[in-house]
Amino acid sequence: MIVATSRSSREPLRLVELPSRPLRADELRVRVRSIGVNPVDWKMREGGPLGTAQRIIGPSGPLVVGIDFAGEVVEVGSGVETPKVGDRIVGGTDFSRNQRGSYADEVVVRADQCAELPASVSFDEAASLPVAGVTAWRWLEEAGISSQPDARVLVLGGSGGVGLFALQLARSYGATVAAVCSARNVPLVTRLGATAIDYNAGDPLEAAARLGPFDLVLNAIGSAVYPSSACRKLLNATGLLGLVVIRPADYPSLLFSRRTKTLLGKPTRASLTPLVAALAKGEIEAIIEAKLPLAEAEEAHVRSRAGKVVGKLLLVP
Ligand SMILES: NC(=O)c1ccc[n+]([C@@H]2O[C@H](COP(=O)([O-])OP(=O)(O)OC[C@H]3O[C@@H](n4cnc5c(N)ncnc54)[C@H](OP(=O)(O)O)[C@@H]3O)[C@@H](O)[C@H]2O)c1
Repeated sequence: MIVATSRSSREPLRLVELPSRPLRADELRVRVRSIGVNPVDWKMREGGPLGTAQRIIGPSGPLVVGIDFAGEVVEVGSGVETPKVGDRIVGGTDFSRNQRGSYADEVVVRADQCAELPASVSFDEAASLPVAGVTAWRWLEEAGISSQPDARVLVLGGSGGVGLFALQLARSYGATVAAVCSARNVPLVTRLGATAIDYNAGDPLEAAARLGPFDLVLNAIGSAVYPSSACRKLLNATGLLGLVVIRPADYPSLLFSRRTKTLLGKPTRASLTPLVAALAKGEIEAIIEAKLPLAEAEEAHVRSRAGKVVGKLLLVP
């Protein structure tokens, strides 16, 4: 198998060949057709809590980052009933299950980490979903948005991977959505049904206050830019502040405010299935900024690290 790897975060990712490993009874092998890039991929190369955890409990050998993938099942273990060889699937790798990441032409995962794709959903659309889509979906579930059609949602970081799925899903549930973005992304966010707030045209939280109060304020940018105390003032009596990005300064809020939470957008069959259905029904769309060959994974990380990606970057093995 071919993977993109490097010996350190200072050395660029390059393609190398590694031996494929035999499948266990509950695993399946997937020929990867499209890979979604997430900020966590370059963050893991730089160390941090996930990078450290990966080194301790992840597979041995070169670090292969990446979670999101879409492709075809090419082999299944003796205990796997579905999916079957030949099925098109989307999923997320999991280093805590001794799996290498998705920056590769093949991955080994378990059936509960992937969902089948209907013919109408392309590999590229599907590969945009796992981390960003599941994170958005989980937050909306956590705040009960799918069961209150008159809900109000504010997305801070409306043009990023998480933000674009969050605003589209919330709209598909019938919620009223406001999204903070830069001027260049106002037309996109507006087309997808949210009221866009340009963060360079005055204080965006002040502008948002005129559209609230909110059942969910989803902060996909971080509390260094949008402070949690100011965000909580925008909530209604039962509203929730979702911190998609956390830093040590957030720990007091997470400990002492019941209305401030964080969670992990880990792709599973249960969380991917409604997202695939929403794509198939046209309730959400994958916004793909660019598609690069896997050999250019380093360039994808330079672009993602700059924090300007609109929607998703994809890699193609
Ligand atoms: N906890 C979890 O499970 C989890 C899951 C997914 C992601 N995350 C984290 O969440 C963060 C967001 O992830 P992502 O994939 O959505 O990132 P992303 O796609 O890289 O987000 C980039 C977008 O943010 C916009 N942006 C930059 N500064 C902004 C600001 N001040 N206000 C509003 N928008 C701004 C950028 O557009 P402009 O520059 O034009 O504004 C760009 O479109 C990352 O730190 C990621 O690691 C955590």
